[in-house]
Amino acid sequence: VRTIDWCGDHIVIIDQTRLPDELTLLELRTVDELIAAIQRLAVRGAPALGVAGALGVALADKAGTADADAPRIKRARPTAVNLAWAVDQTMAAADRETRAKEILEADARTNRQVSERGADLVRRLTGKQRVRVLTHCNAGALACVEWGTALGVVRALHERDGVEEVFVDETRPLLQGSRLTAWELDRMGVRFRVVVDGAGPTVIARGMVDVVIVGADRIAANGDVANKIGTYPLALAAHRHGIPFVVAAPESTLDPETATGADIPVEERSGAEVVQRWDAFNPAFDVTPADLVTAVVTEAR
Ligand code: MRU
Repeated sequence: VRTIDWCGDHIVIIDQTRLPDELTLLELRTVDELIAAIQRLAVRGAPALGVAGALGVALADKAGTADADAPRIKRARPTAVNLAWAVDQTMAAADRETRAKEILEADARTNRQVSERGADLVRRLTGKQRVRVLTHCNAGALACVEWGTALGVVRALHERDGVEEVFVDETRPLLQGSRLTAWELDRMGVRFRVVVDGAGPTVIARGMVDVVIVGADRIAANGDVANKIGTYPLALAAHRHGIPFVVAAPESTLDPETATGADIPVEERSGAEVVQRWDAFNPAFDVTPADLVTAVVTEAR
């Protein structure tokens, strides 16, 4: 089952809010339904958000409301540049539905290339045939049309019998790690253990992993990387303990228009996701400075 797909006149997604308990499909027939699904993270992850944006324009185009709806779709979530990129690409096309479907199919292809290239890179950087990996959030098939980026690298390594174990950060507050990444690894048959976010740097310090592999929501022109809140401490720990910190992402996540990480808009979500009773500050992403990133691997570089 694809995470997101087009069915001629509507969008179908896996409702990620229901995983890992239920694998439920959701039909989105209006732009309002799509925006609501994006905002409550029923569909999420930068590449999947890009495809959602493209298909959202196709949906709006059929209703004759594309000009009014495109800016609303772009604003649904601010940090993943793939969303705005795909809306702009689709709006500019003569045949918007065809362009949206191209973006959908390209995502599936691209992520396989990212994954194979990433697997080669990880073997080169670690010098190991079987690696122990730490990952954060979910950059798997559920974050894309299929296959995945950071978790796609794990999958490609696994196909070469190259994974010893994966440590999965829980990823507070919405648990993309313990709900989604763990579910995917379980289905893949990869050995894994879930850790609380605060344990990630300790796992690195104790020498329990060979490499950190994460995805990205936006990579600024200077190489700073925005990804799920809690990524930056892993990069600091990887640097301190001398293991590679690898970012796997499609080229559509690179944003030459945004100069540095300081210019990346970081989404702030409701405090109610963190606590019921007190005020909370709930930034959804952080920015890892370029000098802490060992390598960014895409389908092309
Ligand atoms: O808030 P989310 O779940 O959309 O955040 C997702 C991430 O931070 C992913 O790591 C990123 O989008 C890359 S997905 C291939």
